Amino acid sequence: GAPVEVNVGKIQPGQLIRAEWRGKPVYVVRRTEKTVNALAKHDDQLRDPNSENAQQPEYATNAYRSIKPEFLVALGVCTHLGCAPTHHGGDFAEFVEGVDDGFFCPCHGSKFDMAGRVFQGVPAPLNLVVPEHSFINDDTLLVG
Ligand code: FES
Repeated sequence: GAPVEVNVGKIQPGQLIRAEWRGKPVYVVRRTEKTVNALAKHDDQLRDPNSENAQQPEYATNAYRSIKPEFLVALGVCTHLGCAPTHHGGDFAEFVEGVDDGFFCPCHGSKFDMAGRVFQGVPAPLNLVVPEHSFINDDTLLVG
């Protein structure tokens, strides 16, 4: 499929928007600075904190799993059986104590952080997939 352009200029901090690429949902989140800083604080609760077994491009193999720390780009497809995880901004602590935001999969309860990294003790085996992406300019993301 052709790459898909996403206007990220109007995404508010903490907001998620959905796009579609190759028939799959893509989540784009503008992470707040607080969220970015919190990513380093729960590595010991993650199954694969360094995303060694995860699918992401080389340029997104870093602590944020992204090109720019503020933007997460990930497939909205649970790595268990493919349901769509739900974004919880600010009320994620009900799922993982001490973690303010993340993704919860309603199908069988898998939990992911704001870099799409899966928490331990849930059915999903892998971190969410980060697709190929690039920035054409500050406001325009290209997925694919
Ligand atoms: Fe997400 Fe099973 S499909 S936990």
